[in-house]
Amino acid sequence: MSHIMTDKTQRGNSESDEGKRDNDKHPPVTVIGLGPMGRALAGAFLKAGHPTIVWNRSPGKAEALAAQGAVLANTAAEAAAASRLTIVCVRDYDAVHEIVEPIGESLSGRALVNLTSDSPIRARQTAEWAAGHGIDYLDGAIMTPITTIGQNSATVLYSGAKAVFEANRLILSRIGGASVYLSEDAGRAAAYDVSLLDIFWTAMSGYIHALALAKAENISGKELLPFAQGISGILPNIMAALAEQADQGQYPGDSSNLLSAAAGLQHIIDTALAHGIDTSVLIAANHIARRAIDAGYGMEGFARLTEELRKK
Ligand SMILES: NC(=O)c1ccc[n+]([C@@H]2O[C@H](COP(=O)([O-])OP(=O)(O)OC[C@H]3O[C@@H](n4cnc5c(N)ncnc54)[C@H](OP(=O)(O)O)[C@@H]3O)[C@@H](O)[C@H]2O)c1
Repeated sequence: MSHIMTDKTQRGNSESDEGKRDNDKHPPVTVIGLGPMGRALAGAFLKAGHPTIVWNRSPGKAEALAAQGAVLANTAAEAAAASRLTIVCVRDYDAVHEIVEPIGESLSGRALVNLTSDSPIRARQTAEWAAGHGIDYLDGAIMTPITTIGQNSATVLYSGAKAVFEANRLILSRIGGASVYLSEDAGRAAAYDVSLLDIFWTAMSGYIHALALAKAENISGKELLPFAQGISGILPNIMAALAEQADQGQYPGDSSNLLSAAAGLQHIIDTALAHGIDTSVLIAANHIARRAIDAGYGMEGFARLTEELRKK
């Protein structure tokens, strides 16, 4: 296991101007959390030539990174003390706090970029905790899978202290693709994240249900696929129209209305029930549509449900 120097010792020992210049171009970075995403992040920093210090709660996750030159810290505190910037990427904010609370002193006066996914409320709470410990905090949400890390197709949204984003732009750019800074509100990136994951997981639930229904009707996934992809092709225009209606609070039903949508949902429910397939997701969707119809909005469009969903 490599010995770790703190960044102060590293500076003190830098004898040549060349060494200093390299440190400016390739400052060290600490990565805490070596799940699939943490390993991908550390790999991208190593590939870009940054001294990369890593730590994970359970041992045995750093071998491949160590072979690429990563330095494995013995403790989280040691890892945090080894660079000016620590990136934490673990399961959720409970895990983040389990790790960072005992090492607040080591992180004090340094930057902490939290690339863990969780809720906007928790992101704001973590920012408050960091401010209370003199830690420069930036929150981030990684919007794309591990295969995109280090590539142009990566997208990461950031919110919180803009100064931290600007000061660490170089290292953060190694994650690849678009780094988008949103707002000083530390919860903003997580707010985008949960809204976008809402689309992803409800869409995935719908697709999985469709595959089960198709199978029950002896249609293979492969046979259904081109038509399923056709649906995803028409979605961008529909999404744009619904977004505009939701923003304006006007829901014209001239091309399709809620009565028609509820009838369509009922056909799927009836077919699923006939095959003994769970209908809970569809019944929930139909229930909201029916509630809006009962309230007199049957002739309005589907985006009316953005208001119905807010009612208890
Ligand atoms: N994977 C993706 O494609 C992807 C894409 C976008 C965003 N993300 C986000 O990135 C974050 C990390 O995801 P991941 O894919 O790396 O896998 P993950 O399974 O969500 O997280 C695994 C990491 O969390 C650590 N961990 C879990 N509970 C802990 C605790 N109580 N204390 C300390 N460490 C704990 C694990 O440590 P141990 O090894 O010790 O268990 C491991 O380092 C998540 O918030 C995820 O939503 C992932």
